[in-house]
Amino acid sequence: MSYPVTRLRRLRQSPVTRNMIRETLLTRNDLIMPLFVCPGTNVENKISSMPGNSQLSVDLLVKKGKELFDKGVQSILIFGIPETKDEHGIVACTHNGIVQQAARALKKEFPELYLIADVCNCEYTTHGHCGTIVDGDVHNDLTLETLAKQSVSLAESGVDMIAPSDMMDGRVSAIRSALDKNGFYNMPIMAYSAKYASAFYGPFREAAESAPKFGDRKTYQMDPANGDEALREVALDIEEGADIVMVKPALNYMDIIYRVKSTFNIPVAAYNVSGEFAMVKAAAAKGWIDEKRIVNELLTGLKRAGADIIISYHTQEIIQDL
Ligand code: PBG
Repeated sequence: MSYPVTRLRRLRQSPVTRNMIRETLLTRNDLIMPLFVCPGTNVENKISSMPGNSQLSVDLLVKKGKELFDKGVQSILIFGIPETKDEHGIVACTHNGIVQQAARALKKEFPELYLIADVCNCEYTTHGHCGTIVDGDVHNDLTLETLAKQSVSLAESGVDMIAPSDMMDGRVSAIRSALDKNGFYNMPIMAYSAKYASAFYGPFREAAESAPKFGDRKTYQMDPANGDEALREVALDIEEGADIVMVKPALNYMDIIYRVKSTFNIPVAAYNVSGEFAMVKAAAAKGWIDEKRIVNELLTGLKRAGADIIISYHTQEIIQDL
């Protein structure tokens, strides 16, 4: 049926019908807020390129966790900035690791807040790469050992979910079997499956003090030009035991989110990364855009594309309105 019998504007006349036929709804259940934990007491280091975000010491992180939980945030993703770093990122695999301390403190105060731990080596290595360096490049299989150790140690500290972001081949399988061997067969894995070598991570590397000291991450993170390869990455992670697969960054990769969701019957997460957040904040600070409406439009778009879960630094500012 075509015009004039069909007029799509009819159902746009009233807010009631617009609400009735709305296809995509952003809810509190969809959002995860990333947070950064650092050593010390009463420390808050503001991250200049990410307004409203800071590195927080464990005591302040617990306060922040409570504040967010009271606002309606159900889940946080924790990144650690350790006191010391080493060649292999062993500091991240110990009982007293910074994220382990944070997890124990948060779980003690309010166990209802769902804790997801990012698993990677870049914040913990002296060279800033995501694994052990051999002959100037990250050695895949040696790195699997630290990733598995880090994951088990984080599970022991009480986190609810493990999220490997390193992009080594075979890491999901290595982590799954180490978790299972230690009795953590119910610990879900959210794999950063299609993670691109992206310039959009710029502000995060300041936040997490994790910029590589030499070279770049192109030998392990994906080429932004590739789409089919993302589906292969996702297929491998699913085969290895990923419970949720992630596409990262989000906004420039909506086609990938759509393809992943339409190809595989599995929950998909989209990471609305630091650079995406910073661009919105910068334009809003200039008064060039309506921040609230832009954020809602961006995140709704990610859901419409197929994301079930959205990790976003905007979470803390929009959650009350959802
Ligand atoms: C660690 C990691 C990064 C991000 C999440 N985990 C940075 C990187 O790969 O360099 C980026 C998050 C963001 O930009 O918000 N591997």
